[in-house]
Amino acid sequence: MRITLRALTRQDVEAHNAGEDEHIVRWLTGRYGTVQSTADHFDRLADNARAGRGKRGFGVFLDDRLAGYVDCDPDARDGLEPGDVNISYAVHPWARGQGVAGEAVRLMCEYMREHRIGRRAAIRVYPENRASVRVAEKGGFTYVADPLSGTDKKPEEDSIAILLYVHDL
Ligand SMILES: CC(C)(COP(=O)(O)OP(=O)(O)OC[C@H]1O[C@@H](n2cnc3c(N)ncnc32)[C@H](O)[C@@H]1OP(=O)(O)O)[C@@H](O)C(=O)NCCC(=O)NCCS
Repeated sequence: MRITLRALTRQDVEAHNAGEDEHIVRWLTGRYGTVQSTADHFDRLADNARAGRGKRGFGVFLDDRLAGYVDCDPDARDGLEPGDVNISYAVHPWARGQGVAGEAVRLMCEYMREHRIGRRAAIRVYPENRASVRVAEKGGFTYVADPLSGTDKKPEEDSIAILLYVHDL
């Protein structure tokens, strides 16, 4: 099993959209992409890569087939300390359960080190998203805080608590 990160192009739009499912929409994107919205997203990533700023994202390829997506976003600040850079990821349903996300995160951390993007990689995850919590744990990320713990949280607000995991780069 060979996992690589590659820049996404218009040719990947169809496979990218076909790989989205309800879990990706629920935990990551909030809605299904269209041909246009995904193409626009890939164009923005290409612009950012050229300019060396903003969100940097890649396709995750498993033996040359598009199997997921990973990005890092130095502009995402919510709940993060200066120097923390958020990583997001998704794996297409057919490729899950083989450690693809963990390897994608590892490769993204390598890229961030190489390009001096941040001091720590951060994964923010809803506690109910057990698969993603496992990715953070198995990747050696350290649990830092539940930003809402210690406050007067009502039971119905539990679902909005976000766990923060970090890893030195
Ligand atoms: C979270 C996600 C990226 C994990 O990708 P992955 O490559 O399957 O990760 P792993 O193979 O390391 O599996 C992680 C956990 O997923 C669960 N899992 C295992 N096989 C699975 C399968 N076939 N289908 C779904 N989940 C599975 C297990 O709980 C596993 O933990 P374990 O290794 O302790 O058993 C993937 O489930 C996904 O795309 N989810 C929707 C988007 C998302 O949640 N992104 C993260 C936002 S913070």
